[in-house]
Amino acid sequence: MPSQSIHSDPSTEAFLHDVVSGLQREQKEIPSKYFYDKRGSELFDQICELPEYYPTRTEMEIMRDSGVDIADKVGAGRLVVEYGSGSSLKTRILLDHLEETAGYVPIDISGEHLEDSVAALRQEYPGLKVHPICADYTSDIDLPSDAEGTPLVFFPGSTIGNFTPDQAVDFLKRSAELVRPAGGALVGVDLKKDRDRLEQAYDDSEGVTAEFNRNVLHRMKKELDADLETDAFEHRAVYDEVRGRIEMHLVSLSDQDVCVAGEHTFRIEEGETIRTEYSYKYNVEEFAKLANAADLNVEDVWTDANQLFSVQYLSAA
Ligand code: AVI
Repeated sequence: MPSQSIHSDPSTEAFLHDVVSGLQREQKEIPSKYFYDKRGSELFDQICELPEYYPTRTEMEIMRDSGVDIADKVGAGRLVVEYGSGSSLKTRILLDHLEETAGYVPIDISGEHLEDSVAALRQEYPGLKVHPICADYTSDIDLPSDAEGTPLVFFPGSTIGNFTPDQAVDFLKRSAELVRPAGGALVGVDLKKDRDRLEQAYDDSEGVTAEFNRNVLHRMKKELDADLETDAFEHRAVYDEVRGRIEMHLVSLSDQDVCVAGEHTFRIEEGETIRTEYSYKYNVEEFAKLANAADLNVEDVWTDANQLFSVQYLSAA
């Protein structure tokens, strides 16, 4: 069962389970959700400010430029339910445009980060009813019983791209159930573009993304008592044009044995990689198909002048 209080992060057992099963695979992998403890969330906030990382800046520009239009489409009296709320930066732009917001349910896997951002939000929006949930939003989540209003799922940042297309459809189906009959979902979707721009966005010159990627190794050491050196792995980000996704990997710099929790040892050869993230990019037509597969309809798409990013309103009606 995922934790649903603001005070405790989802369990170490789940982390251990996912690391052990992921490192047993032919292509070793660790789910990207494990980047996000307090440090990882702070590193992600730094990524969002980097010149190469266009998604955050561009999405915020779209939300500002089309805020009135978006609010008009979304309607009044909404309960904004945000998956992976982080620092709730884009939420503020949405809240500033929406009318008579009934409440806000930020859901985040990092309890400490959630506490900090909820405290800041409560100060800035004293009248807003905030119902935080610390949970892994990839599992089922019940809305707090005292939350009122027609739900609007808010899923910005193109985090939907961190799911495989099948997982994205499942996630959208669950969102559709949550908002049916009258609600909808506002989703940020990163658009397909040239390889150079994409690869630079995921391999910045300051090395912040590399540190973010290695944060999962720091967590393994700290939380799973893993016997490894974090700088024995280097960051790699590659765009797979056929699958339309960025893949992030940790590349082993030598032949090494990594022991987790004192009892699970994995041999990792020099050059072998642990895949840590997918970041899928869609064109507008591809994403509409994905939404339809989840019984949702894309009603409106807002983009920037350079067509780098999109914000899409999906209705369950
Ligand atoms: C959270 N997510 C949408 C980011 C992305 O762009 O896929 C995570 C990220 N990974 C590296 N940089 C940013």
